[in-house]
Amino acid sequence: MGHIKLDCANLKNIISEADIAGKQEAVDRLHAELEAGTGPGNDFLGWLHLPSRTSAQQTQEIKQAAAYIRDNCEAFVCVGIGGSYLGARAAITFSGHTFFNQVSASVRGGPEIYFAGHNISSDYIADLLDLISNKSVCLNVISKSGTTTEPAIAFRILKKHLEDKVGAAEAGKRIFVTTDADKGALKAMADVAGYRSFAIPDDVGGRYSVLTAAGLLPAAVAGVDIDELLEGARDLEELTTRESGLEKNMAYRYAAVRNLLYSRGKTTEILASFHPAFGYVAEWWKQLAGESEGKNGQGIFPASVEYTADLHSLGQWIQEGNRNIFETFLLLEASSRQATVPGFPGDPEGLNYLQGKSLDFINDKAYKGTAQAHLEGGAPNMSITAPDRGAYSLGQLFYFFERAIALSGYLAGVNPFDQPGVEFYKKNMFALLNKPGFDKGKSA
Ligand code: PA5
Repeated sequence: MGHIKLDCANLKNIISEADIAGKQEAVDRLHAELEAGTGPGNDFLGWLHLPSRTSAQQTQEIKQAAAYIRDNCEAFVCVGIGGSYLGARAAITFSGHTFFNQVSASVRGGPEIYFAGHNISSDYIADLLDLISNKSVCLNVISKSGTTTEPAIAFRILKKHLEDKVGAAEAGKRIFVTTDADKGALKAMADVAGYRSFAIPDDVGGRYSVLTAAGLLPAAVAGVDIDELLEGARDLEELTTRESGLEKNMAYRYAAVRNLLYSRGKTTEILASFHPAFGYVAEWWKQLAGESEGKNGQGIFPASVEYTADLHSLGQWIQEGNRNIFETFLLLEASSRQATVPGFPGDPEGLNYLQGKSLDFINDKAYKGTAQAHLEGGAPNMSITAPDRGAYSLGQLFYFFERAIALSGYLAGVNPFDQPGVEFYKKNMFALLNKPGFDKGKSA
């Protein structure tokens, strides 16, 4: 199984090896703090050695629940938001069939998978109920706190729908809860109703929870090999724990480069991919980076684009707009399946020069052409390449970014594991909704 790679060649006129080496001392110190648990946010470091500490029994329990869900339902709805949603969706989108819910159940090997609880849209939930009303349904409600408003509303609606259809006893067998190990409203509900429940450890924050049951159960239901996913993460954990040198530790190298770029006015990082499979990996990364670093009036703004589609919309801005950006390309060494350009008699659109060429070959040239053009236009870039869309590659990617963003936050001098700013909209919304205990006079 191949390894992910970081390539910084397209930064060399902007960030030198000496610049990077200049960060080594700080990186060594912060690495030691991270490992010793003496830095800010040290009560949320459970993710750091999670891959190597996840037992075979824990994964076995997840696989058993996933097998039950795969055998007993046609539609599986994951209810969650933020860190309790994006990682699971990233795993399914990255490794699953591009048209996961549309292909036949035999191609998929399990139920259709839907997501709810990540918005408060009436049309979204009503349309989802339309879609699942004639299907046998299982629910996985994922919420560490158990009280987040959006998933709590969606869960009430979906639970009622399920109970009305199959009765409370049968619904109880089809509802799976992922939450705190022993406290919170959801845990209490699960205990009373006898729902099967899985734990998100206390010391693992939402955006770092993809390798807990929050991500692993939905991934396993989608047919992702969670042993391989954890193995990929474990291998990166091992490498990045043992080695803090910026030559070898590519997560720290990426963090150091980001820090240098930010200090030179590159305040927005665009994560750019050439494959739709990366779409939710980018969404997951945006939360990871944004919530970890965007505080105290600072932080790189994490954005994402999907090429080549966005070259035809945002491409102009990226090439010639405000020069406060840098790009990180997420690349794939090889697609899972190959397609080639067929010939056409008469060559009406002048495309026969590509006859017989694979789309991977053409896409690679699109990447190289774009990277060069953006570099020349003042948008420096680097790339992270995954060997394939397998679970091992994805496990490496997840851990790479977790480790990199944690160190990046430390380099920036912030606590990367809290998110105090997220509470502000909630306070206003609760006051406007007359939630007991929230003062309307203090709302926006
Ligand atoms: O990173 C975070 O902590 C957040 O994005 C949470 O994951 C999100 O708010 C959902 O919280 P909970 O799992 O408690 O419902």
